[in-house]
Amino acid sequence: MENVFPSTHPLVAHKLTKLRDKHTDPKKFRELVREIAALLAYEATADLLLQPRQVQTPLADMQGAELLHKIGLIPILRAGLGMVEGVWELMPSAEVWHIGLYRDERTLKPVEYYNKLPIEPTVSVCLVLDPMLATGGSAVATIDVLKRWGVTRIKFVGIIGAPEGIALVHARHPEVPIHLAAIDEHLNKRGYIFPGLGDAGDRQFGTG
Ligand code: PRP
Ligand code: URA
Repeated sequence: MENVFPSTHPLVAHKLTKLRDKHTDPKKFRELVREIAALLAYEATADLLLQPRQVQTPLADMQGAELLHKIGLIPILRAGLGMVEGVWELMPSAEVWHIGLYRDERTLKPVEYYNKLPIEPTVSVCLVLDPMLATGGSAVATIDVLKRWGVTRIKFVGIIGAPEGIALVHARHPEVPIHLAAIDEHLNKRGYIFPGLGDAGDRQFGTG
């Protein structure tokens, strides 16, 4: 599908397999989420624009480059939190704005419980971070919020996507690129990605 980018990097595949493993403990799980997020963010930011910047090396003046746009990282609470640290290390001047959503277990619809965005957008490019793109409801709701806020350039960075969730995000926001470590088979009856990795929030935070 257009605008969907499953990673083909061997390091991502290797780390994702460890992440899926039900024997991986929360400490290792968090470490892997952080590392995979950084690798995916590296891929997702390959087309960011630059502007020229003069720099003095110890030997000469030269023209270098710096990022043109201010970047915002938008983790979807809770599970997206674990992705922030890895991405932030690559772009330490990014702003981090949290959006709190949980999926109603019965309807599988997202319920918003936290959003403290200022009235005017303070960033121009947003990376939405959430490891699981299941029905796509949480991603779509977050992108809706960011568009209402006034952000025009948005990218979704997740770890595992289900075809159903990818299709929903693509239908509602076709211009938003979706970067993933893998696309899995389908959603099960409880709305979990199959084979997936289980509950990403519970596995990171040792709950459930
Ligand atoms: C998980 C996950 C996504 C959402 C994906 O969060 O982190 O935010 O489900 O599902 P969807 O694509 O069907 O909307 P969850 O609701 O379990 O909350 P948590 O991160 O607080 O555990
Ligand atoms: N949220 C998760 O944490 N895992 C899934 O498989 C689906 C939604």
